[in-house]
Amino acid sequence: MKPYRLHIFVCEGKRCSAKGSEAVREAFKERLKAAGLKDVKVSKSGCLKVCKETPVEAEFCPAVVIYPQGVWYKNVTLGTVDEIIETHVKKGGIVERLLLFRLPG
Ligand code: FES
Repeated sequence: MKPYRLHIFVCEGKRCSAKGSEAVREAFKERLKAAGLKDVKVSKSGCLKVCKETPVEAEFCPAVVIYPQGVWYKNVTLGTVDEIIETHVKKGGIVERLLLFRLPG
């Protein structure tokens, strides 16, 4: 067994789920599999507290975090999954317009 190169956590807390995060997680899994990217793991997480970061509750939901870079994305939808895969997963870049936090390092 080889360790995963990237691990994508999709929030499936109450507020992100209400905005379609389960479908987002499934889309990541399907599209990574179709692209043959077996070194990327996709998991669901509980509430990441992003939903409480803004005056408008759940404004940034659904939230996604990718390690080891420690990159937090906001407003990840079915329409942005492919962009994250192309830019971040395949090329090592950041989708700046969806960036919420990036851990130093
Ligand atoms: S439910 Fe996803 S950040 Fe809270």
